[in-house]
Amino acid sequence: MGFNPYEIRKDFPVLERKINGKRLVYLDNAATSQKPKQVIEAIREYYEKYNANVHRGLHTLSQEASEAYEKAHEVIAKFINAYSWEEVIFTSNSTDSLNIIAYSWGLKNLKKGDEIIITVMEHHSNMLPWRIVARLTGAKVKYIDITDDGLLRYDQLEEVVSEKTKVIAVTLMSNVLGTINDVKRIAKLAHSVGAIIVVDGAQGVPHLPVNVKELEIDFLAFSGHKMLGPTGTGVLWGRKDLLEEMEPIKVGGGTIKDVTLESVEWHDLPWRFEPGTPNIAGGIGLAVAAEYLMRLGMENVREHEKELTAYTLKRLEELGDDIEYYGPRDPEQKGGVIAFNIKGLHHHIVGKSLDMFGIAVRTGMHCAHPLHYRLGIKGTVRASYYIYNVKEDVDALIDALKTIVKLKDVLSSTEVSDVCTGT
Ligand code: ALA
Repeated sequence: MGFNPYEIRKDFPVLERKINGKRLVYLDNAATSQKPKQVIEAIREYYEKYNANVHRGLHTLSQEASEAYEKAHEVIAKFINAYSWEEVIFTSNSTDSLNIIAYSWGLKNLKKGDEIIITVMEHHSNMLPWRIVARLTGAKVKYIDITDDGLLRYDQLEEVVSEKTKVIAVTLMSNVLGTINDVKRIAKLAHSVGAIIVVDGAQGVPHLPVNVKELEIDFLAFSGHKMLGPTGTGVLWGRKDLLEEMEPIKVGGGTIKDVTLESVEWHDLPWRFEPGTPNIAGGIGLAVAAEYLMRLGMENVREHEKELTAYTLKRLEELGDDIEYYGPRDPEQKGGVIAFNIKGLHHHIVGKSLDMFGIAVRTGMHCAHPLHYRLGIKGTVRASYYIYNVKEDVDALIDALKTIVKLKDVLSSTEVSDVCTGT
């Protein structure tokens, strides 16, 4: 029982756009997804009908806004099968969530001699906060490598984990290689030595069924904008007992029950971790996005993307030696993220050329510089899929790449600085 992506496309107004005279082929979903009209409408309705601050007023609009915002937490709890909605903290994105976990949990629980384990495939957002917290506490960071196929070195992980390990921070799905990590296995390993596991779900949660109880993880971070929700929305989920022991690191209005000049009593969960006026419209929109995905069924989302990935990997073979591909080749082991290079052409030139065909991809090091250095490259072209992508999008990508290969001699003389200044 799948879904019809051609029907789904009708919910996404932006897909009607033409870019450079061509149908928009949006393959930059790992950066951010497009938004369905249901989400856009929910945000509009909030602003038009019940815009008010939450938890601060007894008037009708404030009550309605508070109710909708609280319900949004319940929807997200259901989406990831949390034990309770109180474990769901709304943040501004995965980076925000991961920073809160690292500082709030890390500063309280880490000390000299402790070890934090990170993988080389982590996004900077699940690496840099831990490095700073390690510096502040005297803990040590250890890195786990990947195989040449882009899979995590579980053998090395098992060797490195010891009684000194206090945290294993790992991505559920690599934003470059697409590798899906066995976080349940890693959670067991972490718990066997009394450590916690922090999962970066920025790429995994929008694309895979995620059940935090079943995975037996401790913390999960993800972004709303990569799962059909508004930008500026993210989620920090944590086990209630861990969250209850943590002090908020961003404090102020909304985070307290009482304050005197000498003391402070923190608010209940999740509010103690949501300082200031939250992104109310964003939270409401995010819940509508999660409901949309639950209606489709996350198993079906995964199946759809697996099919597109398998089809892409097969068709990429038509480019023969002209293509260099990175990541697992088995669609069972990876999500819908395809990173590659055209030999002899800078990734930015390829990305800019694809735009001429109406195809949107991301190029560069994708906020994962250490991973690219490990691969011995300075960047990749990354195509990434979602529910509204269809086989015709893959065909458009392959056809455009074939043309780009034919024009290689002309394109290779283009100055990279003419097309891009970023990383
Ligand atoms: N983290 C996002 C990406 O991988 C922005 O593109």
